[in-house]
Amino acid sequence: MEIRVLPKSILDVECDCLIVNLFEGVLSPGGATGAVDKALEGLISEMISHGDIKGRLNETVVLYTGGKIPARKILVVGLGKQVDFSLDRARMVSGTAARRAEKSGCKRLASIIHGAGIGGQKPADAAQALVEGTLLGTCGFTEYRSKTEETPAIEEFLIVEKDEKKAKDALDGARRGRILAEATNYARDLVITPANKLTPAILAEKAREAARNFDLDYQVLGPGEMEELGMGALLGVARGSVEEPRLIVLSYKSGREGEKLALVGKGLTFDAGGISLKPADGMHEMKVDMAGGAAVIGAIRAIAELKPSIDVIAVIPAAENLPDGKAQKPGDVVKAMNGKTIEVQNTDAEGRLILADAVAYAREKLGATRIVDIATLTGAAVIALGHVASGLISNNQELADAVLDAARKAGEKVWQLPAYDEYKEQYKSDIADLKNIGGRPAGTITGGLIIGEFAGDTPWVHLDIAGTAFLADEKPYLGKGATGVGVRTLVNLAINLGER
Ligand code: BES
Ligand code: ZN
Ligand code: ZN
Repeated sequence: MEIRVLPKSILDVECDCLIVNLFEGVLSPGGATGAVDKALEGLISEMISHGDIKGRLNETVVLYTGGKIPARKILVVGLGKQVDFSLDRARMVSGTAARRAEKSGCKRLASIIHGAGIGGQKPADAAQALVEGTLLGTCGFTEYRSKTEETPAIEEFLIVEKDEKKAKDALDGARRGRILAEATNYARDLVITPANKLTPAILAEKAREAARNFDLDYQVLGPGEMEELGMGALLGVARGSVEEPRLIVLSYKSGREGEKLALVGKGLTFDAGGISLKPADGMHEMKVDMAGGAAVIGAIRAIAELKPSIDVIAVIPAAENLPDGKAQKPGDVVKAMNGKTIEVQNTDAEGRLILADAVAYAREKLGATRIVDIATLTGAAVIALGHVASGLISNNQELADAVLDAARKAGEKVWQLPAYDEYKEQYKSDIADLKNIGGRPAGTITGGLIIGEFAGDTPWVHLDIAGTAFLADEKPYLGKGATGVGVRTLVNLAINLGER
């Protein structure tokens, strides 16, 4: 989809469909919607007065212009109540409207910038939300169908703003929105890819390709190097599969010395549970267990384009967790690269094991000064927070606040859970430094804290995205399936930290 900003009046734009908007409760629309209404001889206000357009959030109504203006159709999207309006709502209605336009076969789509008028948002921010919503809302994935249904994709997206100054600002925002949405859609693509098409080695190849395309440094470790480094926790998980593990590192250099932000993403390309085998029902969903890894590759690719003033590395431990004659067994003890020993009481709690070595590596070998790990870590996160919010656990409130702030700006919901020392009692082992499970109570917290044991005193945040990485139902700007959660939060975080 080609995206352009057109500094002209919406009444002069030739397109298949022009998107305008309406706040709930407005009876006679002003601004751009009002101008269209006038050109259509009051059709929109007439429909409002008969209750056919209400302006409710995400409501869409399509009308034909009958040649009265160059746009063939008008799509009025509801913004909801003006007092409740936010950039996230702008993103939502943009996704809803674009999806509706696409379904009706629209190729050349034009839109006003929702929220930049009486919505009171800055034109750059509103344009960013518009482009994010549009690109996220229309991203489809059909690679594995032999026949694809013909929904022609939108070819051109025109952002119409007649005020020259606002149009110029919108151009900046639109660029940012495009970069973030493309990176998110890239992560979604990786997540949805089945495990037979995405092994740890293939994931490493994809990362190498991203490095080449976005001018990032790329490094990879195989089992030999892991052995030398003493990464017994990561190697232990990989033992049950014929697919070799990889530890993938992508680096972005800002040119500014000092801080180095490590984004560490769980890259389990398939999690059958190992010897602590998962039940068959729903096991297929465990191809998404690399969503954290996908998020950090997506994030660093966007970071390479947006160039924040902070060094960033993406570290992805990638492995498959399968049961096999060589697989690690419940009760085994492994040693991570920092020398800590872990009793593996449940082989299905493998994310924390591979992350233990990845976090230690980021800190001890790559010089990370701040660490954010992101992982589909626990079913308990789904129980606690559902499919609405990701869980956050941290050893450093300043970094936690920075991540929460970045998430808020991205429209991604993140909720901090407590990290009291008492929880650490739950994963004491009788024979090793710690065990890899802390029992059912507070499973998301103990899972996170176990990873934190390998961050030492480096400021660290853990994000559990088990409930948010994959959705069974559609949301306004996310179709069902992989969400690419985390990408935009992590990019915002790097930008914010770079500005300090
Ligand atoms: N990958 C799973 C967690 C998961 C659950 C991700 C649902 C996405 C959706 C993880 O490796 C796992 O199996 N965790 C166990 C931990 C337990 C054994 C302590 C779990 O949550 O049951
Ligand atoms: Zn597991
Ligand atoms: Zn897992």
